[in-house]
Amino acid sequence: MAILKIRRMGDPVLAASAKPVDDVKDPAVARLIADMVETMIDADGAGLAAPQVGVSLRVVVFQAPAARSTAPEDGEEAFDHTAPLTVLINPELTLLEGPEELGWEGCLSVPGLRGKVPRAAHLRYQGLTPEGMLFTREARGFHARVVQHECDHLDGILYPQRMRDMKDLIFESEWRRYLSAQTSGRESHG
Ligand code: NI
Repeated sequence: MAILKIRRMGDPVLAASAKPVDDVKDPAVARLIADMVETMIDADGAGLAAPQVGVSLRVVVFQAPAARSTAPEDGEEAFDHTAPLTVLINPELTLLEGPEELGWEGCLSVPGLRGKVPRAAHLRYQGLTPEGMLFTREARGFHARVVQHECDHLDGILYPQRMRDMKDLIFESEWRRYLSAQTSGRESHG
């Protein structure tokens, strides 16, 4: 396994539409997945898509708790590396009925920034496992957000492109200050 170089916004591979994986049993795909997982954990990310390591294939990995809701002003998303690891090959999303949620996102390919992004709060996704099994899952809240963020990478979309208001694109250091102000505000109201 190896830790791969993470591509940053501006690299053309991040703006390209990734190709489906033809043969999930290809050893090169297994190696890619193992390297992506190692790279994601090393970088303390909640997820990683293959284009972020320079490979234009429809593969994402992420760690999201099975059930976790995010309020619109929710605080820091601790990257929980004990959460179940999901590897999705050739994923497809179906957004389900319901209101969107606004929530903060960061991206390993857009380092140092955070943005508030509207996302579907409820969706269904399917994809192939590394063993070639098709599986389907429903997700809400943070889990649904992570899936949408990672799958957007496969279509060449970075989260700032999903934002409605650019004033909500801020530096991570300011975001931490903003969050601690929010928290103390809540506490002072009992
Ligand atoms: Ni990202």
